[in-house]
Amino acid sequence: MKTVIGNWKMNVGVRESIALARGTLLTLRGRKVVPNLIICPSFIALSEVRKVIARSSVSLCAQNMSWEDKGAFTGEISSRMLDEVGVTHVLIGHSERRGLFSETDEIVNRKLKKALENNLTPIVCIGESVEHREEGGYLEIIKNQIASALGGIRLRSSAKLFIAYEPIWAIGTGKNADVAQVIEVHEFIKTVLSDIFPGIKEDQLNVLYGGSVNGDNAYALLREKSIDGVLVGGASVKINQFKDVIEAASEVLEAQE
Ligand code: 13P
Repeated sequence: MKTVIGNWKMNVGVRESIALARGTLLTLRGRKVVPNLIICPSFIALSEVRKVIARSSVSLCAQNMSWEDKGAFTGEISSRMLDEVGVTHVLIGHSERRGLFSETDEIVNRKLKKALENNLTPIVCIGESVEHREEGGYLEIIKNQIASALGGIRLRSSAKLFIAYEPIWAIGTGKNADVAQVIEVHEFIKTVLSDIFPGIKEDQLNVLYGGSVNGDNAYALLREKSIDGVLVGGASVKINQFKDVIEAASEVLEAQE
């Protein structure tokens, strides 16, 4: 299976989110094979988007969550609250949260533990800066990010975990990592994960790529075995572009049948 996730970030309000969710559903019409499709509206649009995608195969994802269940944490949203509005997946440690909102590896780890405890499927985002890419130390950075995010984590046999490799230099820049660069890192991530979770079922761990994914580059990325899916930002809020990405994923799946 291939997964396509649309991270709408803080780009669309409630009305536009409803329209975008409807548009996303339309892109699935008449297709024999469709990817595992997940959309991430802002918190305030989750309930309305849920109504639109009810009875479809599309899943609802939050862009962030608190590491606490409840209490005096003004402005925060807990995983239990997300569950209440039909959220099944959550992005954790996006580089925008790490870079702009001071999320540390320790916070990422606490959020991940809480998400798993409350049966949300986490999508943990990792990725190196341009400096680390140029210096050549990026694999080390990635290994450290995974080790600290997953410290003390045990995955139940029914639980799934997504790791999204999103190199910071590729996010919102129009300059995606090329296929060979993504394969190198994904194979590395899979080796690191199999050391951490020996004997785990293959479908429990998925490694996605994110960073300037669009209709032009999605097919070349998705047809690779080590790329289990894509995490799409800018192109996911432009329905024609997102449609092209979904189409690319469907074509890859059809070719594999
Ligand atoms: P862009 O697709 O806009 O580069 O964003 C990627 C991203 O951050 C998805 O989480």
